[in-house]
Amino acid sequence: MSLIHHNHLSTSISSSSSTFLARNNFNIRTQNVSLPAKNNGICKCVAAPLSEKAAYKTKVSRNENMAKLQAGYLFPEVARRKAAHMLKYPDAQVISLGIGDTTEPIPEVITSAMAKRSYALSTIEGYSGYGAEQGEKQLRAAIASTFYSNLGIEEADIFVSDGAKCDISRLQVLFGSSVTMAVQDPSYPAYVDSSVIMGQTGQFQKDVEKYGKIEYMKCNPENGFFPDLSTVPRTDVIFFCSPNNPTGSAASREQLTRLVQFAKENGSIIVYDSAYAIYMSDDNPRSIFEIPGAKEVAIETSSFSKYAGFTGVRLGWTVVPKELLFSDGFPVAKDFNRIVCTCFNGASNIAQAGGLACLSPEGFKAMHEVVAFYRENTSIIMETFNSLGFNVYGGTNAPYVWIHFPGQSSWDVFSEILEKTHVVTTPGSGFGPGGEGFIRVSAFGHRANVLEACRRFKELYK
Ligand SMILES: Cc1ncc(COP(=O)(O)O)c(C=O)c1O
Repeated sequence: MSLIHHNHLSTSISSSSSTFLARNNFNIRTQNVSLPAKNNGICKCVAAPLSEKAAYKTKVSRNENMAKLQAGYLFPEVARRKAAHMLKYPDAQVISLGIGDTTEPIPEVITSAMAKRSYALSTIEGYSGYGAEQGEKQLRAAIASTFYSNLGIEEADIFVSDGAKCDISRLQVLFGSSVTMAVQDPSYPAYVDSSVIMGQTGQFQKDVEKYGKIEYMKCNPENGFFPDLSTVPRTDVIFFCSPNNPTGSAASREQLTRLVQFAKENGSIIVYDSAYAIYMSDDNPRSIFEIPGAKEVAIETSSFSKYAGFTGVRLGWTVVPKELLFSDGFPVAKDFNRIVCTCFNGASNIAQAGGLACLSPEGFKAMHEVVAFYRENTSIIMETFNSLGFNVYGGTNAPYVWIHFPGQSSWDVFSEILEKTHVVTTPGSGFGPGGEGFIRVSAFGHRANVLEACRRFKELYK
């Protein structure tokens, strides 16, 4: 099979959004309605003759846990379907509100700090090699004081990383293969998939669309997207994401107090993912450590990805409080430190300079301006689906809008929207069986693209 790069797929869109704009008076960051055609990673597959010789095989058997995984990881699968659609409709102006990747430029106050650090690497005085595996002292201190002031979290509790997803996998290595785990259903797929890879689960059960030995905590409109903990059996680890990807719902202080209480009663560890906390608009907790007693039962992972458009730069952090102990009294942070030193060598020094700039007064303000822009996108999407009569969830505390299509299959809805509007969304069932019948629409996009996508949604569902 040979791969030919397909460079001329146009991503320009024609905007007919002036009425929308006039009505809402939203700030437009991107005036470029016509986006430059670039190599967007779309490849054309050209069949090559089948080889007559059988392929050589090694004697290494496949990791049986890898073999348990279903199809592809959700987002590559969405990307694959988008690519196939673009091959089918080479002239279509495809808009992606799918995988949730950031689109807006990083403010210069942040990139200039990275550039400065990068140039300094060319000088004797400015060069640095391996840094502390846990992250640079200044950045750890800045994260502690910016996000956890008055919560008793200190610089030493912060482990700087190359992103929350990488930390989720490192945490799984920390826990090992014999722990049991619970997840919100639906949830960000990395929790379940990394658990499968570690060998914590049984086989995938097709009838219920679940892996054996994982507790799926149903989160739906009926329970306000917070699980009924009285029906959840004890597990060692509980993954909990708030604001949640994909439902966009944020747990209240009272709900998180119940979660911490539940973990304490069961002697469980919560892995709390706050990757979207900056998008919250109400006064729900931004961190699990706002809940009294959480330091004895919780780890928190977070990221600059959606805070500052660092999805490509790669920078995140995980908080492992010194108060968190295993059943034998050994500090979890000490073992995590060992994992970080063995499996990771510290985040890029350039990325860390960017992270520090994000937390400077100017950088912090600039970072929030970009977040505010995405929040306006979220309002536009919510308004669109509300006006069409759908039941719309999420959005107010997260850059994701969660839309109900009762009685329909998520993948069917995904395919219909793609086929008829050329807009890529994400099927809810890809986040777990509890997501069936829902579609997630991401608010990460250029304003003109979001407006155009909404125009097409209105056309489709009028
Ligand atoms: C809930 C959640 N956690 C973690 C991540 C990954 O973040 P990072 O880019 O820091 O690896 C994402 C990315 O989409 C996410 O949605």
